Amino acid sequence: MTNLSTFSGAFESWYGLLEIQARGDGMKKRNLILRGVIAMLLVACIAPMLRAWEREPLSVFAGRRAKLIAAVNAPVVLFGYTGHEEANPSYVFIQEENFYYLTGHNEEGAALLLIPESAGEKGWSGPHEILYLPSRDLNEERWNGVRMGPEDPGIQDKTGFANVENFAKLHDTVAALAKIYPEIYTELPEPHEDGYPHAAIWSKWVKDAAPQTTVKDVSSAVATLRAIKTPGELALIQKAIDPSIDAHLAAMKMLRPGLYEYQIAAKMVEIHDYAGCETEAYAPIVGTGYNSTVLHYNKLDRRIEDGDIVLMDVGGQYSGYASDITRTVPANGKFTARQREIYEIVLGAQNAAMEAVKPGMTLGGQGPTSLQKIAMDYIDSHGKDKERRSLGRYYIHGLSHHVGLNVHDPSGPSRPLEAGMVITIEPGIYIPEENLGVRIEDDVLVTPTGYKQLTARLPRLPDEIEKIMAEGKSK
Ligand code: GLY
Ligand code: MN
Ligand code: MN
Repeated sequence: MTNLSTFSGAFESWYGLLEIQARGDGMKKRNLILRGVIAMLLVACIAPMLRAWEREPLSVFAGRRAKLIAAVNAPVVLFGYTGHEEANPSYVFIQEENFYYLTGHNEEGAALLLIPESAGEKGWSGPHEILYLPSRDLNEERWNGVRMGPEDPGIQDKTGFANVENFAKLHDTVAALAKIYPEIYTELPEPHEDGYPHAAIWSKWVKDAAPQTTVKDVSSAVATLRAIKTPGELALIQKAIDPSIDAHLAAMKMLRPGLYEYQIAAKMVEIHDYAGCETEAYAPIVGTGYNSTVLHYNKLDRRIEDGDIVLMDVGGQYSGYASDITRTVPANGKFTARQREIYEIVLGAQNAAMEAVKPGMTLGGQGPTSLQKIAMDYIDSHGKDKERRSLGRYYIHGLSHHVGLNVHDPSGPSRPLEAGMVITIEPGIYIPEENLGVRIEDDVLVTPTGYKQLTARLPRLPDEIEKIMAEGKSK
């Protein structure tokens, strides 16, 4: 990270000066002491600058587990990622979302078992929640760093679990529970799930361990909890949003014809990384000209031309939590009349939908509570295409989704909004035959009486965008 290397550069020159003085005195002992003091100072000074994964208090995770097991009232077994989810050498471990949400445990190869209070009536005398960890592998730790193990002293305090056991014991405990419960819950694969088959592998493991039980899906029960954010989660989402806003502002200021799409994305990613984001919340989208009309465009290999529109859907992820922000701007700093016309229609639709956000509304559907319908009605009743047709046909995606540990947090479009939910509002118009795609995307918190726009610091008005871009040009 640049802040670290800048600091250590300054440190090296300062250290070099002191070393020459010590050598002149011929005092080796003093030199050694000096080195020790300086090393301690260096650690003390840079420690706050290191990237730190921020985790909510362990009691928050315990509260979630209590809510989940009360709702399900049958044993729940969940598996973290193993660390072998990808062969890509650039892969960095990030925990499976539901597992992290319930445990705060961010290391490989763990499992969680929850057992309802009702188990006591069925003769169960064991604990009601157990974290399973793999045995430590000291050779592996030489390569990948220290991990927690089930026999570590103080592991209960470190994990927030009174019972931490070796992963090898999970199989027999699941088999014992299967004798007293006809159903066990875990994550089942979605019928159309593609990619790494985590849920398929582990739900089969549960079926094999407990062949006489029905294995049911716990995902929707966890999703119900995940939709309502705690204050700690809201703080982390804001920490993902803030550098993402900075990145959009920097992109607006640097944009000019002649640059490539990937160069804009590179600057934005650098700003996220520098602020402590561990990764992007999704592959950056910087689409210019025709590419602005491709919803998930991520090739980023086009040279930006004068007169292009530039759609930037780019957001960082901080300590597991996503941001999701889109701005659409003119490459040369001035919207054409047609670009501005379409932009203002999208903005009008976004304002209409955002102002309607409050508990009880729904993201999708056709009824009077549907935010999607509000945005669609606005777009379809403003402006025309080249053939004088209304523009609804060019608004081809949903208005909104939940945001949290995943940029597309699980929760369907028909669930009525409640205070504490975080959603996007992102209408768009994409007209390929005009090489003109416009999306404006903001993240909002649903409050008891309405909403709070978490991305409000990032301007949306076309005049404000042109002003920021002009400031960038004048430097
Ligand atoms: N960035 C993906 C989305 O807006 O849903
Ligand atoms: Mn989105
Ligand atoms: Mn987006």
